Amino acid sequence: MDIIESFKQKARNIDSRIVLPEGKDDRILQAACQIKQEGIADIILLGDESELASRADGLGLDISGCRVINPSSETEERAELAELMYELRHHKGIDREKARKKSSDPLYFGTLMVAAGKADGMVAGAANPTGRVLRPALQTIKTRSEISIVSGAFIMVLPRDEFGEKGILVMSDCAVNPEVNDDELAEIAVSTAQNTKKLLDIDPVVALLSFSTKGSARHPLVSKVRRATNKARKLAPEFEIDGELQADAALVAEIASSKAPDSQVAGRANVLIFPDLQSGNIGYKLVQRLAGAEAIGPILQGMDRPVNDLSRGCSVDDVVSLVAITALQSG
Ligand code: ACO
Repeated sequence: MDIIESFKQKARNIDSRIVLPEGKDDRILQAACQIKQEGIADIILLGDESELASRADGLGLDISGCRVINPSSETEERAELAELMYELRHHKGIDREKARKKSSDPLYFGTLMVAAGKADGMVAGAANPTGRVLRPALQTIKTRSEISIVSGAFIMVLPRDEFGEKGILVMSDCAVNPEVNDDELAEIAVSTAQNTKKLLDIDPVVALLSFSTKGSARHPLVSKVRRATNKARKLAPEFEIDGELQADAALVAEIASSKAPDSQVAGRANVLIFPDLQSGNIGYKLVQRLAGAEAIGPILQGMDRPVNDLSRGCSVDDVVSLVAITALQSG
């Protein structure tokens, strides 16, 4: 079974409610119907009820199985969410009137539903850039108590199975944090390991990458990766974690045996942690384009409840897959 099919299969066993704030996007309407038909999750669509109904009609879709909520309507639910927004953000200078206005924005309404436990996760980004999707979630849902940083992982499915876990590698942070300190890098390593275990049910073997292997180069950036490795090990002793390793030492057994003979992780890593967003974003795209890998993500991790960001060029299938992943993360 392919990896997306296995996510859908597992999601069917979790009763999750996923909110899709961009209800007036045709791809979202099509995906919502498909998700309901395939029994992947219950869907809450945000948008004007009559507008969504007529768009769905035009597309020949039946959205009667989805709950539709108009965030602009002055309902009791909206008032509750506005009050929650006020409670969460008044220390940042938001008064009740601003909170009321914010709560009519579908992206805030959606994240507030998740924060309030009225939905189990949110997927958006088909019609909004990353920052517009992430900011409301970072402000209201926030991170899990033991993690202070949200990051973005990609599951890379390689055409050959010689690297990682039978050709599967998880890479992070490829999507969110331009620069991180050693504490944050350690947390990214741990949340990526946890996410790998939860989504793929494989034992993570985590390599913190650098341009140096075990002291082959000296530089403050190398020292940062070393410190992060030690901190990650302390945070999550249950996982195999090592660094600093160059990518070849992390992945290739023969190179590992000469460059890092004492490392249990070198040569068999299935989780690769990049030192910053430049290397992470460039790295996953090179593997995708040059090695012909399928890139599944970004999958956001570290958030208290799952929110995921679509690319604006997404297809209906991309939306369905990301909803299945979000449902799994919520379980
Ligand atoms: N983890 C946890 N909390 C965070 C994070 C994070 N990574 N980043 C910001 N926050 C919190 C802030 O502390 C702040 O909280 P507060 O208001 O309660 O104090 C809140 O989120 C909002 O912070 P802002 O400063 O308004 O947000 P910022 O301007 O830093 O934007 C964002 C955050 C959108 C994630 C930004 O870092 C960003 O744009 N990152 C790059 C995204 C990107 O372009 N990725 C590459 C493309 S994606 C791809 O190719 C797949």
